[in-house]
Amino acid sequence: MVERSPHIPPDRVVSFDPYRDPARTADPFSVFEEFRDKPLLWSPRYGGFWIATSAEIVRAVYQNPELFSSRLTGIPAGTFWPRPLIPLELDPPEHRKYRKVLVQPFSAPAISRHEIAMRDACTKIVSELAPQGACEFVSDFAHQFPTVVFIDQLFGFPREMAADFVRWNFTLLHGATVAERSAQSEQLITFLQSAIDARSKSSNGGDIISHLLRSSVDGRLLTREEVLDTAFLLFLAGLDTVATAMSFAFHYLAGHPAERCALIADRSLIPGAVEELLRYHAFVSNTRTVTRDAAFYGVELKAGDRMHLPAPVAGRDPAEFQDAHRVDFARKPNRHMTFGLGPHRCIGLHLAALELRVALEVWHDFIPDYELASHDPPSFRAGTILGIDKLPLAWDR
Ligand code: HEM
Repeated sequence: MVERSPHIPPDRVVSFDPYRDPARTADPFSVFEEFRDKPLLWSPRYGGFWIATSAEIVRAVYQNPELFSSRLTGIPAGTFWPRPLIPLELDPPEHRKYRKVLVQPFSAPAISRHEIAMRDACTKIVSELAPQGACEFVSDFAHQFPTVVFIDQLFGFPREMAADFVRWNFTLLHGATVAERSAQSEQLITFLQSAIDARSKSSNGGDIISHLLRSSVDGRLLTREEVLDTAFLLFLAGLDTVATAMSFAFHYLAGHPAERCALIADRSLIPGAVEELLRYHAFVSNTRTVTRDAAFYGVELKAGDRMHLPAPVAGRDPAEFQDAHRVDFARKPNRHMTFGLGPHRCIGLHLAALELRVALEVWHDFIPDYELASHDPPSFRAGTILGIDKLPLAWDR
């Protein structure tokens, strides 16, 4: 904990800890509701940080990268990566040049070309689970499916490596100790470096690494370091997030059979359900660093202050969404910020949405009727990225 500095009004101080407080409740999203009475709060934990308390403020921060830098996006400040992750931790105008490189392979038309293979991969996993009558959804499905798509379709690595990647990614993000996470990071770096070496001998493949090796910024090819920094971010950003979104979605559907039946009866509801389940379970909370002293929503910010943007604050703001605490698959408009907003808005959103849609379609073809396993309740994970550690489901064989 740090001392409150004089520019922080005493009535704004709350002792909020993103790594502990959401874990204290059965609904990890609800803890943020108590924040709404003041526009900005401040927590002395992890070096001190402001907390945005409405969708309006979260949007204003995302859309002002000149005042709110992405150079340090974590709480506490600093990552285990020695350089800025590309493009996540770059600010405009630098950011724009590197993001441009990723636009085409992650565009909606490019991603839709993976749908058939994606559906096949999903069918294989679910058809093997269906006769079992039960599973631990997070490890048996939610991590498996996006990882197969990612390494097979996007990176062109052998499909048999999916189990390794599931394990690597989990340890990298959720390993028990810093040493464990760093060792895992080293292993992934070594693997990616050798893949970059191999692909640089003939970079005409359709995979992401070959694409990066052919891409230019400022009229020159990306350096190998830049290719590595981008590929590493894709692994960090593109696997656990989708698994988490799927786990929250299926947790909700397992506990709400009437809504699940409506979805099964009318498949045209699925795209809207994907967006609504993402809004309701906004789980990626980002942080920015203030670049200069400025007045903002009634307080004085100082250069270097951190600004935390809790995703559930934006996703369930009643000033933004009518009946914000109700899931409505037909909600329109549904301008949620679960994928962020502004220059850094998630580049993988078309991929994530398609994977979620395919998962909802294929799973319910094979396993329409399921429930939370009565003997083994789900467990949630707090943090700047909320998650589900364990989701045991059961169904009639
Ligand atoms: C449901 C799943 C996902 C969620 C909720 C999510 C959420 C987010 C959010 C909130 C941001 C903004 C970060 C910021 O402003 O600091 C972001 C950025 C990003 N995401 Fe995702 N993401 C998901 C899936 C993916 C996937 C599948 C990929 C790629 C394979 C991906 C790649 C990225 C990248 C590269 C960025 C940085 C974009 C930039 O800085 O311009 N994400 N994501």
